[in-house]
Amino acid sequence: MTIAPAVPTTKGEAISLVSVGKTYQTATGALPALVDINFEIRAGEFVALVGPSGCGKSTLLKIIAGLIPYESGVVSVGDAKPKEGRRDIGFMLQQSVLMPWLDVKENVALPFRIARESGPHVSDRVDELLDLVGLSHAASMRTWELSGGMQQRVALARALALDPGVMLMDEPFSALDEFKREHLNIEVAHMADTIGKTTILVTHSISEAVLMSDRVIALGVNPGRVVGDIAIDLERPRVSEMVSSSRFQELSNEVRDALAIGMNGEAE
Ligand SMILES: Nc1ncnc2c1ncn2[C@@H]1O[C@H](COP(=O)(O)OP(=O)(O)OP(=O)(O)O)[C@@H](O)[C@H]1O
Ligand SMILES: [Mg+2]
Repeated sequence: MTIAPAVPTTKGEAISLVSVGKTYQTATGALPALVDINFEIRAGEFVALVGPSGCGKSTLLKIIAGLIPYESGVVSVGDAKPKEGRRDIGFMLQQSVLMPWLDVKENVALPFRIARESGPHVSDRVDELLDLVGLSHAASMRTWELSGGMQQRVALARALALDPGVMLMDEPFSALDEFKREHLNIEVAHMADTIGKTTILVTHSISEAVLMSDRVIALGVNPGRVVGDIAIDLERPRVSEMVSSSRFQELSNEVRDALAIGMNGEAE
């Protein structure tokens, strides 16, 4: 199975965060989730966001997607502020949210249904997307008949449905076994090379981050903040054999060192 680069696409948009802060109001008081987050992501860049549980990775993606408010700083995606319902942002959520009463094709077509868009172009687009993620043969299957990897492919196709310039992926491969995961890592990296969208991938896996991305941004916890920004200078296309190269190990160690700094709360 290969992901074919067949679908014509919109190119990526730049993302910018300047001094972004987010505090949740909880039953036990204010919880500062993100403090003074600054980074720029170039159009078409593939960035991995890594950090310990609770450091605010999902919060950051939701802010960029315009799904939740933030108190301070400025976020822009392309020329505009994030806002809910932007068609130019595709989001693969941390929990798979395929609709069990819809088949594969209908799940991929859901964003069009929500946008009240129908017609032959929708059906053509869905066919293209299923081809892109290697699921043409599974178009009529029900979601419970799919393996975990297939479900993630459906979620990926659906996130790409409206041809967004930005793809946000929140731990999309965490439920897969090691072998399937590495396989899909490489496929999605190749697809990203081909379709040129700006991508942010949240992951707990350092090797997944290094294998797939142009850059790894490491976050620390208590409060969530940027503790490292590491350029990944491995050549493209990425191949799984790179994992055993000495450069791969060096880069992984750089990410690991940055994360170690961020593990123990704010430095004095
Ligand atoms: N809706 C909410 N209300 C209150 N607190 C929240 C809410 N969502 C997240 N938090 C808190 O904000 C912090 C960051 O949460 P977030 O889900 O962004 O972390 P994460 O880095 O994605 O973690 P994980 O790796 O476990 O998915 C956590 O302390 C969490 O408890
Ligand atoms: Mg999360």
